[in-house]
Amino acid sequence: MKPAGRLLPLLAAPALLAAAAQAQQPAQPSAAAFPPGEGQATVQTACAACHPPAIIASKHYDADKWAEVVDQMIGKGAKVSDADYDVIVAYLAKTYGPSH
Ligand code: HEC
Repeated sequence: MKPAGRLLPLLAAPALLAAAAQAQQPAQPSAAAFPPGEGQATVQTACAACHPPAIIASKHYDADKWAEVVDQMIGKGAKVSDADYDVIVAYLAKTYGPSH
């Protein structure tokens, strides 16, 4: 009988649980999600499929430049309908405009 051998797993369990809880902490909200606003859901669907919002949030463009970016993304395979195009460009220019 070796009591110490049976105790070890019990001692290790809380440490494992703590590690798991830490791994589940959400990343910074600003980098993980688009801020609320008109068109947010549309942008989320069209633009978060291939890369995290952070790649978009790091840019500060006016509407013309965002339209260019959206054109480029459509070239890469982004699915943007004509109706969604204007909504997306307006959201991006408002949320990630030159002055933000
Ligand atoms: C089909 C996949 C796909 C979708 C959907 C997509 N992108 Fe991208 N995006 C990419 C790829 C791939 C890159 C990396 C391009 C590169 O390295 O040249 C990228 C890069 C970017 C960049 C960084 C460009 C730079 O110059 O650093 C921005 C900004 C961007 N995407 C915005 C958007 C926006 C806005 C949308 C929604 C309209 C979108 N993306 C949807 C594939 C996608």
